[in-house]
Amino acid sequence: MQGKRILLGVSGSIAAYKAAFLVRLLVKAGAEVRVVMTASAREFITPLTLSTLSKHPVLSEFTTTDGTGTWNNHVELGLWADVVLIAPASARTLARCAHGLADDLLSAVYLSARCPVFFAPAMDLDMYQHPATTENLRRLTSFGNRIIEAESGELASGLVGQGRMAEPERMVRVLEIFLTPENTPNPLKGAFLSENFSRENAPFRGLGVLITAGPTQEAIDPVRFISNQSTGKMGYALAAELQAVGAHVTLVSGPVALPLPHPDIRLVQVRSAQQMFEAAQAHFTNADVVILSAAVADYTPTHPADRKIKKKEAVFTIELSKTVDIAATLGQQKRPDQVLVGFALETDNELENARAKLNSKNLDLIVLNSLQDPGAGFGHDTNQVTVLDRNGGVQKIPLQSKQELAKDLVEIIAKLVSSTRVVLKS
Ligand SMILES: Cc1cc2nc3c(=O)[nH]c(=O)nc-3n(C[C@H](O)[C@H](O)[C@H](O)COP(=O)(O)O)c2cc1C
Repeated sequence: MQGKRILLGVSGSIAAYKAAFLVRLLVKAGAEVRVVMTASAREFITPLTLSTLSKHPVLSEFTTTDGTGTWNNHVELGLWADVVLIAPASARTLARCAHGLADDLLSAVYLSARCPVFFAPAMDLDMYQHPATTENLRRLTSFGNRIIEAESGELASGLVGQGRMAEPERMVRVLEIFLTPENTPNPLKGAFLSENFSRENAPFRGLGVLITAGPTQEAIDPVRFISNQSTGKMGYALAAELQAVGAHVTLVSGPVALPLPHPDIRLVQVRSAQQMFEAAQAHFTNADVVILSAAVADYTPTHPADRKIKKKEAVFTIELSKTVDIAATLGQQKRPDQVLVGFALETDNELENARAKLNSKNLDLIVLNSLQDPGAGFGHDTNQVTVLDRNGGVQKIPLQSKQELAKDLVEIIAKLVSSTRVVLKS
């Protein structure tokens, strides 16, 4: 966001009060913000508030009223912006933009903009569902604009349903990820954070999700084992988030010190890589989405001792054998309607290695953790990852708590699930 030029268009909706929070968050994130308001938006929130927060005069009219003949150059404003965000977008403003009416400053700026444009609609549920509005939204997306869909909940009218403008935090997040230079979204079928994801709509309702999490322990003898530093926090956060968006979650977990995030999550506790493989295999067929976040041992002692090994030899050697490659095996069995997500932790040639793993194991997405990033990886409560998809898309998700990251990953997976299903249907 640092230095990005965001032109915020505010139109006449009760949600206009949220524009103040939005401007504050955008400025705090380092963006330069200019605000254009429709005439009716000024009834809902004063230009003074938004000009103070954005540190720029707020514009509404084509010309000034001081008799000097000065005019606000809509073309310049349109060209100035890196992104135009119209939030809230009223039904009327959507209609104006969908039909190219340049009859106020905001819609003229919209027509002049060469940059990406996002609309965040806000209105009562019947207005939102009206064919006129849905048709206008469809037209706007067909022109290449992006919609940050309204959320469901209690509306200002007292009715309950979809129509509430997305929260400012969410809009900032969508823009942040959109503007990250390393991100190369594939507009057709990329697995990127979707602008029209609404958590409240329980997008995973009815879907079976299998998640593996935590480390495995490979027995050397009855008291010793080989393991790794995985705590399971990322997998458990994903399980919690997927359960919250309606999925039936089966969590196959290695030994961890974490509570089950929700009683409806089916927990299958395992210890070794072989047990994890067998449990994952048993639940694979019924899963629509499979997320392999466990840190599974690659090697296991070939001959674990029945009894505790005594300290005798100066040098003690343990023979290790390869474990089953869970991701590769499930990747071979994957049906076209299933989505398979893997995790990778790399220390060198990270992107190259992760992409090779994505392809060789027939994954749909791979989430790359880097040990080189401070605050990321094992044991931390935060994580920073890069997500690679099969279309060559690369998306870097900034450092944040594992809970917040789980939300972003679930959103990316939701988009992939819906595109997989659309492709299957057509
Ligand atoms: C109290 C109140 C709340 C309103 N809220 C909305 C709203 O949330 N969404 C919407 O599309 N219109 C809403 N309207 C109607 C718009 O303000 C009206 O259609 C206006 O002409 C929009 O103009 P604009 O798009 O140029 O800002 C509301 C009107 C009033 C009086």
